[in-house]
Amino acid sequence: AAIEKGNYRHFMQKEIFEQPTVVAQTLRSYLRPVEMQVALPQIDFDISAIDRVTIVACGTSYYAGMVAKYWFEQFARVPVDLDFASEFRYREPVLQPGGLALFISQSGETADTLAALRHCKAEGQTIAVVVNVPTSSMAREADLLLPTHAGPEIGVASTKAFTCQLAVLAALAAHFAVKKGRLDREAEAEVVRHLLEAPASLNAALAHDDEIAAMAHLIAPARDVLYLGRGPDFPLALEGALKLKEISYIHAEGYAAGEMKHGPIALIDEAVPVIVLAPSGPLFEKTVSNMQEVRARGGKIVLISDKAGLEEAGEGCMATIEMPQVHPLIAPLVYAVPVQLIAYHTASVKGTDVDQPRNLAKSVTVE
Ligand code: G6P
Repeated sequence: AAIEKGNYRHFMQKEIFEQPTVVAQTLRSYLRPVEMQVALPQIDFDISAIDRVTIVACGTSYYAGMVAKYWFEQFARVPVDLDFASEFRYREPVLQPGGLALFISQSGETADTLAALRHCKAEGQTIAVVVNVPTSSMAREADLLLPTHAGPEIGVASTKAFTCQLAVLAALAAHFAVKKGRLDREAEAEVVRHLLEAPASLNAALAHDDEIAAMAHLIAPARDVLYLGRGPDFPLALEGALKLKEISYIHAEGYAAGEMKHGPIALIDEAVPVIVLAPSGPLFEKTVSNMQEVRARGGKIVLISDKAGLEEAGEGCMATIEMPQVHPLIAPLVYAVPVQLIAYHTASVKGTDVDQPRNLAKSVTVE
């Protein structure tokens, strides 16, 4: 049956709003809510024996991989190599025997990612894939298939596939942590509880749609926009900048908040909106001092944080968007929503073709 937009103006908008449902649907295959355990669909190798993970992907899927690197290292203490598929293929990577190579792709057909997968397979790595199309080449060639259940994604700019990838990767990182003896029963149950809350938190984030639509009028006139984040929310800053570039054609850059003073700070003036992604937590104070550096140069800040964060640092911002208070393992999923809505509404203000942005393809099956 043809996929319809229903009451939505664009597929991208529909797909953004589907996220609570499809993330819940995806998590269902990875969590046992009665036992409060994480569980993978099918697995016939010993995770506790894996000492290195190599993550390879392109585009938005690469940023999901970047979040996963933070999670794997922080929660499971497993070292992770991460690369764009187009770089990985040609840089003669050193692969550790017995390693796991993890490929992330909505389509399962991106040419560079598929070539990287075949290279790793030939080198004897165990191949795991997080893909949204279960009949795809990558799905067929993997040892371990970790499907996302986002359903068909029509908008060229990936949204719901991304949050579903994060959901799978969070469960996978937690599973590794359990197998590596880093999460006891109680801590595992706690993680599962937080993951089960993700769909409700996504809904809470979506409730800010009107507010973000109004705010988009402040972003639309900009020539450049800077996104800042730290830790697992740094990749979200990169994803935010990518989304804005893709569909609104505004130049945007994502940066690690602490690295801003080594370059991008030179760009800051009243005309450059700076979008800060900063859930409250151990890194928050550091980001607040980066915000002060921006403010001292006349920069206009949009702060995306939770209640505690906004109470502390919301004053003097051009705009603020309040996210629910969430566990660090859920924050990147939840903060993806405002990032997507900012791009979507800014593109709407500019009147660009949101679902079919110029020069871009949904799936890049040629080099
Ligand atoms: C294209 C799409 C992006 C996507 C990337 C990777 O550039 O426009 O939205 O993130 O390919 O695609 P994949 O199917 O491998 O996730």
